[in-house]
Amino acid sequence: MEVHEIKSDEDIVLARHFIRDRAKEMGFGLVDQTKLTTVASELVRNILLYAGKGKVITIEVKNGFDIGLKIEFIDYGPGIENIELALKDGYTSGGGLGKGLPGSKRLVDDFFIETEKNRGTKITVIKWLRGVKIDTV
Ligand SMILES: Nc1ncnc2c1ncn2[C@@H]1O[C@H](COP(=O)(O)OP(=O)(O)OP(=O)(O)O)[C@@H](O)[C@H]1O
Ligand SMILES: [Mg+2]
Repeated sequence: MEVHEIKSDEDIVLARHFIRDRAKEMGFGLVDQTKLTTVASELVRNILLYAGKGKVITIEVKNGFDIGLKIEFIDYGPGIENIELALKDGYTSGGGLGKGLPGSKRLVDDFFIETEKNRGTKITVIKWLRGVKIDTV
C-alpha cells in the first residue's frame, strides 16, 4: 500500500507516474497502464478542482487467482451532490466537459463512489489482471 498526498497541479504528473509504475510492476500491459494513468489524471484533477487537496492510495488486491490494482482517490471537500447525475456523460457543475467520471468508470473493472455533503468523496477503482495464477501452498 502506498499513500500519496495531492495538493498541486504537479501531483497530476506524479500520480500518473507512480500509477504507471505500480501497474507495470504488476504485469499490466501498455494499454491497461495507459487506461490507469488516464483515470489518475481525471480523478486527481477533480480532487484539485473541487476539493483543493486530497490523497491517492494504491493497494494490490487479490480475489481467488486474480490480482488487481485498487486505487482510492480521497478528498475532504464538498462532496458530489448527485452521483447519478455526475456519472452522466457531459454533466458538469463547473464548465468542464463532464467526461472525467463517466470516462474513468469505463476504463476500469470496478468503480465505486462514496460521498457525503461537506464531508468529502472517496472514489475506488480496481483493474484486475485476469488469469494470473497466484502461487499457493
Ligand atoms: N472530488 C469531487 N468532489 C466534489 N464534486 C466532484 C468531485 N469529482 C467530481 N465532482 C462533480 O462531478 C461532476 C462531474 O465530474 P467530471 O469529472 O465527470 O466532469 P468535470 O470535472 O465537470 O469536467 P471534465 O470533463 O473536465 O472532467 C463535476 O462537475 C463536479 O460537480
Ligand atoms: Mg473532471
